[in-house]
Amino acid sequence: RPRILSGIQPTADSFHFGNYLGALRQWVNLQDDYENFFFIADLHAITVEQDPKVLRERTRRSAAQLVAMGIDPAKSAIFVQSHVPAHAQLGWVLQCMTGFGEARRMTQFKDKSAKQGEGAASVGLFTYPILMAADILLYRPQYVPVGEDQRQHLELTRDLAGRFNSRYKKTFRLPEPYIMKETAKIVDLQDPTRKMSKSASSPAGIVEMLDDPKVSAKKIRSAVTDSEMEIRFDAAEKPGVSNLLTIHSAISGTPVEQLVESFAGRGYGDLKKEVADVVVDFVTPFRNRTLELMEDRTHLDQILADGAARANEVAERTLRDVYERVGLALPG
Ligand code: TYM
Repeated sequence: RPRILSGIQPTADSFHFGNYLGALRQWVNLQDDYENFFFIADLHAITVEQDPKVLRERTRRSAAQLVAMGIDPAKSAIFVQSHVPAHAQLGWVLQCMTGFGEARRMTQFKDKSAKQGEGAASVGLFTYPILMAADILLYRPQYVPVGEDQRQHLELTRDLAGRFNSRYKKTFRLPEPYIMKETAKIVDLQDPTRKMSKSASSPAGIVEMLDDPKVSAKKIRSAVTDSEMEIRFDAAEKPGVSNLLTIHSAISGTPVEQLVESFAGRGYGDLKKEVADVVVDFVTPFRNRTLELMEDRTHLDQILADGAARANEVAERTLRDVYERVGLALPG
């Protein structure tokens, strides 16, 4: 069976609706048809300073959320990136094959380092996309389900794979991004010209999956829209309203056109109220399941240990091929 692989950083207490609709939902939906590898990118998280206790706790919470949203450990390997040493090991080899200028072109580094000043940003933040390429290439997946903001990293991954294959021998499969057009970029509720983001959004701009559902409902009812009255989908002209329609449609399964029809002649208040209801109905059981899973430490640890065992098996095999092809001395 062809494989899919994707990862998420454990850098917040909760995943948000951008993560869920842009990526995680596709993980859940694809898992029956592929061999799946899903991981929590703790090595990526430490590219910026983390409180050690908080990071470890968030890693476990991330695992609980993945299971709660429907990733089935029987069908999918769920693991922690640092439990599979081959990620960092292949990351080094690929760093040695990446041009400095090539790494510099990655826009996420420019955005993320702009805040602290480039001189203060870690070298790890700079090489982050190369580690991500290693994450992916180790498993030779066909698809990588992600949101739009990861597209450039996937392009770098394909470039590096092609370079390695032609310099040595065909080793890697060129992975394709799997990006859902409709939900590729969920925007901030308070600033709908920007994406919803763990690091950049204000609390009021993010709908967190583990928030008290009442808080989420309130955030949605306070979402920024526009000065018109008409409810229609137009992401360029009406990003706030379109975002609400997108969220509603993705969760309720009602096509956007049908929603627009049902809201004809009604106001933004009605739309917000209905979106809030749909979101509350969705997050309430999710939140309860997550909290339940968090209670059973051994069960969660077992899932992650099984996942790491499956991942290590595949990753070590690829790494051995890579070391051999690059000319590293093989242990006797
Ligand atoms: P991260 O942790 O920032 O986000 C996890 C996933 O959520 C998607 N996403 C969004 N999609 C739509 N709208 C939004 N507002 C939104 N915000 C986030 C992201 O595109 C992502 O798919 N570099 C990755 C983690 C990673 C990874 C990998 C992913 C590390 N190694 C290998 C795939 C394969 C990241 O920081 O995602």
